[in-house]
Amino acid sequence: MPPLVSIENVDMRYGGPEGTLAVSNLNLTVAKGEFAAVVGPSGCGKSTLMKLVTGLHIPQKGNVIVAEKQVTEPVSIVGMAFQNPTMLPWRTTLENILLPLEIVERHRKRLRAHKKEYIGQAERLLEIVGLKGFGSKYPWQLSGGMQQRANLCRALIHEPELLMLDEPFGALDAFTREELWCVIRDLHAAQGVTIVLVTHDLREAVFLADKIFVMSARPGRVLAEHRVPFERPRQIDLTYDTAFNDMVHGLHAEIANARVAA
Ligand SMILES: Nc1ncnc2c1ncn2[C@@H]1O[C@H](COP(=O)(O)OP(=O)(O)O)[C@@H](O)[C@H]1O
Ligand SMILES: [Mg+2]
Repeated sequence: MPPLVSIENVDMRYGGPEGTLAVSNLNLTVAKGEFAAVVGPSGCGKSTLMKLVTGLHIPQKGNVIVAEKQVTEPVSIVGMAFQNPTMLPWRTTLENILLPLEIVERHRKRLRAHKKEYIGQAERLLEIVGLKGFGSKYPWQLSGGMQQRANLCRALIHEPELLMLDEPFGALDAFTREELWCVIRDLHAAQGVTIVLVTHDLREAVFLADKIFVMSARPGRVLAEHRVPFERPRQIDLTYDTAFNDMVHGLHAEIANARVAA
């Protein structure tokens, strides 16, 4: 089966021919159903990679292929969640979760015809992420962690095949972050969705991913690809195991080297 995501020899430069070369000769593939993590020094092009896959940027060189189609415009099978959830304060949490359906033309007609089903789907997602009954609250009535959970529901409401997470838990405290790792773990297991997670938290990458791409300093390219050997389902206890911490240390050393090489 061809990969769901394929980046082939991609260069992306911002600001014209003399501008910043963000990624160069970038290559990676993610199989359907796989959980991939991307780690690397700050400014190495991780968010650029996310924008290339979602079609928010089109590269000057190389190919980005998602679901066997060359990406030339924003990709509709993708759900996205970023570090700072941007919920509309005048809408309830449930109305915020339904927002993507109102924006994407294809879904808009279906939303009108099947509003009840979509509300049911939003409520199921709220339950999965531990926010059962919070749909009628406004975002400003929720804690940061709760907003981030709702943000995940919003990314998933149109049942995307591919979920792109760009440092989604960076702003949260350690306990809340670990709770959300388990939410994401369970979503991945239950829904079979393909996930690409950008994170600077190496423990997060090792806990969640099937494979980890280590990027070089800018211009970013993939320096190494590691399989994560730990069995699923993984429990938080795993993060105290020697083998787990050895892998985290190994990644840390690679990234430290990548920064020095820059
Ligand atoms: N819209 C933009 N215009 C100009 N330069 C940009 C833009 N977005 C990112 N860059 C530059 O591209 C490089 C990679 O950025 P980014 O992909 O955001 O890195 P990361 O997410 O790994 O921290 C950085 O040097 C950044 O300053
Ligand atoms: Mg970034």
